Amino acid sequence: MNEKEIEYVKRYSKKEDLKSNLKKLEEGLPVQYIVGNVDFYGRIFKVNKNVLIPRFETEELIYKTLQYIKKLSQQKLSILDLGTGSGCIAITLKKELPNTQVIAVDLSDDALLVARENAKQNDAEITFLHSDMLEHVTGTFDVIISNPPYIAKTDEVDEKVIKYEPHMALFAPNDGLYFYQSILKEAHKFLKEQFIIAFEIGEAQGEQVVGLANQFFAGCNISLEKDMQGRDRFLFIFQLDKN
Ligand SMILES: C[S@@+](CC[C@H](N)C(=O)[O-])C[C@H]1O[C@@H](n2cnc3c(N)ncnc32)[C@H](O)[C@@H]1O
Repeated sequence: MNEKEIEYVKRYSKKEDLKSNLKKLEEGLPVQYIVGNVDFYGRIFKVNKNVLIPRFETEELIYKTLQYIKKLSQQKLSILDLGTGSGCIAITLKKELPNTQVIAVDLSDDALLVARENAKQNDAEITFLHSDMLEHVTGTFDVIISNPPYIAKTDEVDEKVIKYEPHMALFAPNDGLYFYQSILKEAHKFLKEQFIIAFEIGEAQGEQVVGLANQFFAGCNISLEKDMQGRDRFLFIFQLDKN
């Protein structure tokens, strides 16, 4: 608990909730769950215990993805967001690129409820789909973007994250690599000729995710990229022009 968090709780709490909210903060509940919202890419998103609190890195993922999207020749894009959680990626991309069709998938009904509310609150038209990643997805896309669960059961994780954030949003089998592998294995069927795949990854997973990209997308461009702190946090696979 720091001064900034106390200030935030004071600013966003109703008068009658202030005392109990400050107590929750003292007990360790993340400030975003206490006030029920978070600022992400300049917009307000509702969050509760059923969704991951959107992180700064994910704002970077979106910024970088937008730079790649500028290189696509296709004008009316279709984007697929796998593991949408609060809907922060899908909704932000729709707001930044209004002339785009966005489909957002999650396996958690509770997360989809929050994502739908956020789409309404931000006036963004998104198609939400309850699906185990690509299982019920149909159609082809210019962009597949995902910040899937990627923490290995054996990884050391901040106590507060483990205690309060949904485990379904955090952990993945196979050393945290399960979803990268399962998405890449199936992704060809869901991509247009020119495409971008954009992943957020764990900082120690770069080499392995590049290995998977080479296994399933040999001959395509593969770019492992760092966040502002110099950690490997993003993987892009793309094919922008046949010529
Ligand atoms: C790391 S969170 C990302 C949430 C949000 N996209 C963000 O960046 O803040 C991963 C999300 O994947 C969802 N998820 C977990 N397993 C899934 C599956 N098999 N199919 C679809 N979504 C899944 C979780 O419910 C969670 O919302």
